[in-house]
Amino acid sequence: MRIAQSIAQVRQLVREARSAGKSIGLVPTMGYLHDGHLALLKAAKTGTDFVVVSIFVNPTQFGPNEDFENYPRDVARDETLLQDGGCDVLFLPSVEEMYPKPLATTVELAGLGQTLCGASRPTHFRGVTTVVSKLLHITMPDKAYFGQKDGQQALLIQRMVFDLNIPSEIVTVPTVREADGLAKSSRNVYLTDEERPHATVLYKALQEAKQTLMEGVRSGTSIAEEMRQRIANEPMVVLDYAEVVSRDTLEPLEKLEGPIMLAVAAFVGKARLIDNVQLTLVGDDVIEG
Ligand code: PAF
Repeated sequence: MRIAQSIAQVRQLVREARSAGKSIGLVPTMGYLHDGHLALLKAAKTGTDFVVVSIFVNPTQFGPNEDFENYPRDVARDETLLQDGGCDVLFLPSVEEMYPKPLATTVELAGLGQTLCGASRPTHFRGVTTVVSKLLHITMPDKAYFGQKDGQQALLIQRMVFDLNIPSEIVTVPTVREADGLAKSSRNVYLTDEERPHATVLYKALQEAKQTLMEGVRSGTSIAEEMRQRIANEPMVVLDYAEVVSRDTLEPLEKLEGPIMLAVAAFVGKARLIDNVQLTLVGDDVIEG
C-alpha cells in the first residue's frame, strides 16, 4: 500500500493505475476505521481494480460546538487495517493540503441538506458535499463507496453527482451492525459501559416501525410518533429526531408508498448516534432497500 499525503501524489498514482487499464474505486473516510469501513473497502475491491481510501477528519463538516478536536483518531491502526484489507493507496492529506485558502466555493444542496440531520447540524452537509466533491475531483474514481448508515449523506452525494454530472458511480453499502443491532460507528467509542446497552434503542425503534409497516399501517405520522415514543422512553437517551421520509425529497410523508427511509437520531451521553432503514412499499408489500 502506498501512502500519499499530497494531492499531486495521489493524482500521479491514480494516473499510473489508469494507464495500466485499471478502474478506480474511492472510499472516503474520516479514519478510526471499523468493520463498516472495511465492508466499504471490500466492496470497492470487488467493484474496481485499484482502491484509494482517504482518511481526512474534515473540519468544515463539524459545527462550532461539535467534536472536531476530540474526534477519535488512530492512523497507525488504520494503516494496518487498510494494508491487511488490500487497499492500494491511502490518501492522507493535511487540513492545509485540502484547504490552502478559505473556501470561496462550496457545494450545497438546497433543502435536502437542511432536513433530518441538517436541521440540528445546519452547516454539516455543506461541509460533507464540498469535501466529497473535492475528493471526487482529486481522484476521479469510477466508483465511490459510502455506508448506508449515513443514509441522508449517501442520498445527497448521489444527487450532487447527478446534478453536477460528476462521472463517478456512487455505491451504497449496507450498514454493518454489532450483534445486538447497534450500527457500527466511530462515535460508538464515546459510549460508556452504562450507556452502551441503551444505544440499541435506535435499531429497535426502526425494527418495530418496520414491523408496523408489515402489519399494513401506512400513516407516516403515526409510525414516526411510534419511533419517537420508543426512543424518548429509553433511559439515558435523548431523542433528536425520528422521521419517515421520501427518499427523493427527504420530506416527511403521511401516506406511505414507494421508496421511503425511516431515519432516527439521538444523543446517548456524549455520542450523537444515527441510524436508518430504507424500504420500498408496493401495495401491501414491504421490500428491503
Ligand atoms: O462519512 C464520513 O466519514 C464523512 O462524512 C465523509 C464522507 C468521509 C466526508 O468527510
